[in-house]
Amino acid sequence: MEKNKMSKNKNYYELLELNKIKNENGNITIIEKSTDFKFNLNRVYFLSNVPSGITRGGHAHKKLHQLIIPINGSFDIKLDNGKEKKSINLNNESVGLRIYPMTWREISNFSPGSICLVLASEEYDENDYIRKYDEFLELINNVNEF
Ligand code: TYD
Repeated sequence: MEKNKMSKNKNYYELLELNKIKNENGNITIIEKSTDFKFNLNRVYFLSNVPSGITRGGHAHKKLHQLIIPINGSFDIKLDNGKEKKSINLNNESVGLRIYPMTWREISNFSPGSICLVLASEEYDENDYIRKYDEFLELINNVNEF
């Protein structure tokens, strides 16, 4: 697939094809700022050992940009920009999901042993979270009025 071919861009997410070098000795998957995530990288974290049946996320961010990569296993991400909802199954270590600010997300259906790697544009800041869906809708509708 052409590098970084966007399968969809509705201004709140993009699926990105990462550069993967494969040979008989294994794979290298490369994530570079200029071609892949583009935002300033200030934090990296990962989710692991998530029990089946658990849903993570359940919030939006005011300013944070993220790139999510299923470096092992698979999980589902539900996205919602206040107008449209989308469910994406991430199951390929060389396909990342870029999520833009003001996008509600829920992550579920983690396969056993799955690891969800997150590249983030800002360090952790609880004030950047919107944890109540009603508040998210109110804020996004206000933003869209302008
Ligand atoms: P949260 O982002 O709500 O988790 P998830 O969306 O995966 O369900 O974070 C869970 C807890 O961990 C919360 O108390 C904040 C804390 N946390 C940090 O301290 N630093 C971080 O970088 C992250 C992502 C979370």
